[in-house]
Formats: sequence, C-alpha cells, structure tokens
Amino acid sequence: MSNSIRKWIFVLLVPAMVLGILGSVGGAGHSVPVQAANIDLHDTASLQRGAKYFVNYCMGCHSLKFSRYNRMAEDIGLNADNGFSEDDVATLLKEDVIFTYDEYGKQTKIGELMKNAYSPKAAAEAFGTSVPDLSLTGRSRGSDWIYSYLKGFYLDPSRPMGVNNTVFKDVGMPHVLGNLQGWQKLEHAAEGEHHGAPKLTMVKPGKLSAAEYDKVVRDITNFLSYVSEPAQLSRYTIGIFVILFLILFFGVSLLLEKEYWKDIH
Ligand code: HEC
Repeated sequence: MSNSIRKWIFVLLVPAMVLGILGSVGGAGHSVPVQAANIDLHDTASLQRGAKYFVNYCMGCHSLKFSRYNRMAEDIGLNADNGFSEDDVATLLKEDVIFTYDEYGKQTKIGELMKNAYSPKAAAEAFGTSVPDLSLTGRSRGSDWIYSYLKGFYLDPSRPMGVNNTVFKDVGMPHVLGNLQGWQKLEHAAEGEHHGAPKLTMVKPGKLSAAEYDKVVRDITNFLSYVSEPAQLSRYTIGIFVILFLILFFGVSLLLEKEYWKDIH
C-alpha cells in the first residue's frame, strides 16, 4: 500500500472511530425508552407559557445562568413586533416573572441573568446533591428526555423525597408538579430494553387531566429547548437567506466563468 493511501485511510478512520465512541457513550443514557416531546419552537404562546411555569415552579431551585430576563422576553415574542412596548415588557417581567430581590430588598433588574436565590451550599444540604443549572439541559439531555422526566415521577417510599423517576434512577429532585399531575405508582420496572417501557398508574389524581398535564410539560420542555440554544429561532430564517445567496452566487460565478474563457475558445 502506498504511503498516501495509508494516510487517507488514517484520515478517514480516526474521525469515524471517535464518532463511534461518542455515539455509544451518548446512547448509553437512553436504555429506558423516552416519549416524543413533539415541541414546536415557533409556537410563541407555548414558549411564553413554558417561561411562566418555569419561573413559578422551577426557578426556586434551578437557574438559567446564561439567559437575561429581557432578552428571553424579546425572543419568546414579548416584543415590538407583537405590540409590546419596552415599558409593557418591563412591567410584565417585574410583576409576573422576577421574584428575586437583593440583600437591600431591591428587585432583580430586567437586564440581569436568570439566576435563582438558592446557593449551591444550601442545595447540597437540602437535597444531598447540587441543583443543576438548566441552561444547556435541552441540548445535553434532549427534549424527549426532559419531557419523559417530568412525566416519569412515581412514588417510592425508599427515597428521601418519596419519589423516584423512570428516566432518572434515584433522582434527588422532589416531584414539584405532583399537585398538577397527581401521584403515580410503578407497576413494573423495565427489565432490559426489550420488555417495553416502565408502566405507571395514577393512584392519586392531581388538578389536571393527563392531556392538560402533557401540555404543561410540553410547554416547559419547549422553553428549556429554546433556552439551550436561543439562536435556533433565528437560525432557520438565516439558513434560507444563505441558500438563496448561494444560488445567486452560483449564477454570478457561471457568468464570470463564461466571461473569462470567451477569448480563449
Ligand atoms: C425543590 C428544588 C427543585 C425544584 C423546584 C425543581 N427541581 Fe429540578 N432538580 C432538583 C435537583 C436537586 C436535581 C438534581 C437531581 C439529582 O442529581 O439527583 C434536579 C434535576 C433536574 C433535571 C435533570 C438535570 C440533569 O441533566 O441531570 C431537570 C431536567 C430538572 N431538574 C427540571 C426541573 C423543572 C423543569 C422544574 C420545574 C417544573 C424543576 N426541575 C424544579 C431540584 C429541583
């Protein structure tokens, strides 16, 4: 084999192997089947509901340390295009979204990062584990996982919080949406991948019907997915312009080629 062929095999094989290893590591977390979240990032009403649920039910513990309140509001449709003035948005954020105050009692400003009040030390004491920031969870876990996680809490008296989770074994988080969803019991655990998903049955119904709860969870998942990559919302539009530009540029290049060669033939 000549040296250059060997070199090419090497160049092609190494990335393939690295991708293979990464793929198998990533896949290992999905041994329990997850449900499809079917989120829609263009559904601004859903994103807005998701943001509202998040600040009400999750931000007591979880932060979104890369997002700012006002940028988030703008992205999810609370902006001039939809008839919201800057003052409207500021009032809305101050009244409905921002619940944190500094040590002098002053409310967190609308341009600040979405950090919560829970210190890592207090969290470690309360839950025996740190409370993760959820900025990138939409990407690291994926939307289907988050959706299944929020639907997968079941009663388990052996756990400190009284609950366990079908996709996150021995989870340290309490079932904060328990009053909405109700409380479920595990019928049988998934025994290996081929025995189907774990089966949960409702033992104490919550305030919402199953369909209503799914919708709440889908909205939260949608919001967390947006948060994990805010540029997703504009990327699709930019993509179309890029393709149009390339088509146009191709035409220009063809004309230019003709122009350059016309005297030679
Ligand atoms: C009372 C505090 C508390 C509240 C409120 C709370 N969580 Fe959690 N959450 C935790 C803790 C603690 C963990 C870490 C669990 C562990 O590591 O065992 C966690 C973990 C998670 C994870 C897994 C992160 C990962 O990648 O490992 C997700 C997703 C999550 N929470 C979403 C939410 C959402 C959505 C809400 C609101 C509906 C919420 N949490 C409300 C305490 C809380």
